[in-house]
Amino acid sequence: FNVEKDQVLIFDTTLRDGEQSPGATMSLSEKKEIASLLDEMGVDIIEAGFPIASDGDFEAVSEISKIIKNSRVCGLARAHRVDIERCWRAVENAKKPRIHTFIGTSPLHREFQVKLSKEEVLDRVFETVNYAKTFCEDVQWSPMDATRTERAFLIEVVRLAIEAGATTINIPDTVGYTAPTESAEIIKNLFSEIPELGKIVVSTHCHNDLGMATANSLAAVEAGARQVECTINGLGERAGNTALEEIVMALRVRQDIMPFSTNLDTKRLIQASRLVSTVSGFPVQFNKAIVGKNAFAHESGIHQDGMLKHSGTFEIMKPEDIGLNETNLVMGKHSGRAALRKKISDLGFNLGDNQLQDLFVRFKTLADRKKEVYDEDLLALLADNSMKTNDEFLQLIDLEVKCGTNSPQTAKATILMEGKSYTVESSGDGPVDAVFNAIKIIFPHSAHLQHFQIHAVTEGTDAQATVSVRLEEAGKMVTGQSSDTDTVVASAKAYINSLNKLVLRRMKKAPEAVAN
Ligand code: KIV
Ligand code: ZN
Repeated sequence: FNVEKDQVLIFDTTLRDGEQSPGATMSLSEKKEIASLLDEMGVDIIEAGFPIASDGDFEAVSEISKIIKNSRVCGLARAHRVDIERCWRAVENAKKPRIHTFIGTSPLHREFQVKLSKEEVLDRVFETVNYAKTFCEDVQWSPMDATRTERAFLIEVVRLAIEAGATTINIPDTVGYTAPTESAEIIKNLFSEIPELGKIVVSTHCHNDLGMATANSLAAVEAGARQVECTINGLGERAGNTALEEIVMALRVRQDIMPFSTNLDTKRLIQASRLVSTVSGFPVQFNKAIVGKNAFAHESGIHQDGMLKHSGTFEIMKPEDIGLNETNLVMGKHSGRAALRKKISDLGFNLGDNQLQDLFVRFKTLADRKKEVYDEDLLALLADNSMKTNDEFLQLIDLEVKCGTNSPQTAKATILMEGKSYTVESSGDGPVDAVFNAIKIIFPHSAHLQHFQIHAVTEGTDAQATVSVRLEEAGKMVTGQSSDTDTVVASAKAYINSLNKLVLRRMKKAPEAVAN
């Protein structure tokens, strides 16, 4: 990397740290779709997964490595030879591969997690970074829980990692414990004690447990860090990671006090936010900075009045800057392909011909059932489209439901499971219960339904319903989502989507088995 003095590299870890959040499991095709968008947006490094965690993770990193055109593709590995080699096998086909290896360095991590003395940690770091270098020139190393590591030991271990060949040193605030002044001070101290740091890239990786992840990352940048690790929508373990959109827009809006640039095309931010929210099943809070539904909404009279006179009165950035284009055009059954293409592009999406054709067919079906198709309807269709893939374990083929005042309600479902079709009938306490019971006969499981939520996409009785289903099995959580004008069909598809994710989740090792 040849980083200009004022350039900040964006390292996205939505597919690794983001996917580690409970319930955010993503399928291979979903991961590929997100990775391609990150690549198009100008993300410098994509952390695509943790190859040793499961065969699915390995495959995802390996497949992503093959399709990414510009970004570097990185895989995570613990400080073990087997992890590092597995990681290399997953990224070796990338145009620009990177191995990211880490070990816990704080007293708590040394004693309880890795169970190694300081000396042993030092030996392990030297050995594993050296080993990673035998495969790959680009090696990133992280002292996990760096912000709670004794400063003198942090300096010693970072120095050694550089000596062993690390080309990026990442300083994680693993538990979201630091604060801006301390974050800056840690980075400055490392620069002043280790002159060799000036020749490589220093990175910051913050968690948001105290709501300071973005502030801590920016403080690290001001102190000399030139790589920020972040995720779309701040997705991540517990309270999440630094939000990519916040870093990129803060650097753009406050050029006057933070004169740093990124390679990011900010006009794709809203698209990325929507895609990650759909795929992970994690809604974006309404007042989320930059990408929340209300981030550009002005409700109070004084604000609306000011906005009409000059948008600068209450707006520090424009909706268009993040790809939000206001459109008043309501679509209907007479709207053609060209209108749909224009509308989709105004909404911030860039679809290929096949994707557009598929969407057009589904748009026509919707327009036959619903007089007016609003932006929200199209976004729900797009979201549903991104979930529909051929690599699904279970697929809904047909559904018939009998419901009404006379119980029991019954459902007849035809489902394709691993390519074979099954039809079953079942009854239940209401139509959704009957459908879920039928699906459970075809795919028996012991997962517990934790959350079932229906949300009307627009107003009106003909509105589409978006259904979210969260399942829990042996402490593992998954979330599925789907939309349809028929609420029961949307429920069936959301349930199937969550079961498909459960199948993927079962293949992953428990986080504690891969954490140290
Ligand atoms: O938070 C953390 O410490 C991590 C490391 C693996 C970099 O995610
Ligand atoms: Zn992390």
